[in-house]
Amino acid sequence: MKIAVGSDHAGYYIKNQLRDMLRSSGHEVIDFGADNDQSSDYPDYAELVSGAVLRNDVERGVLVCGTGVGMSIAANKIHGIRAASCSEPVSATLSRSHNDANVVCLGERIVGPEMANEIVRAFIATPFSNSDRHRRRIEKISGLDK
Ligand code: RB5
Repeated sequence: MKIAVGSDHAGYYIKNQLRDMLRSSGHEVIDFGADNDQSSDYPDYAELVSGAVLRNDVERGVLVCGTGVGMSIAANKIHGIRAASCSEPVSATLSRSHNDANVVCLGERIVGPEMANEIVRAFIATPFSNSDRHRRRIEKISGLDK
């Protein structure tokens, strides 16, 4: 799968770890930065990764900041993005099967390295259920997004 990753300074180390883990698992990963742990603004990276998802350059996006919250707020402002902020893998799995989330957000100050790997593995591995009820609800979400 093609996957875009991005972080601000506060998510830099986990973003790099996730990028390397995904590449070792055979995925093609585009890293939109940050390129170091100097202070930067998470909305800039949310925009870059979300843009790659919306252009279909990648199938999924992974965003890391200090908490995952700022990244998810920023990414969810962008029409067509369904970003799930997750701190454990069950939510990541259900965000795919129920919500067809296309971006997962994590907090480097919240989750440890192993938990981060498990969250992203679950997010990447799980398909959308494509059931009528979940599709109907997602269409209603799109309807709110005007
Ligand atoms: C940066 O200090 C921090 O505010 C940011 O990474 C993120 O956690 C915001 O939600």
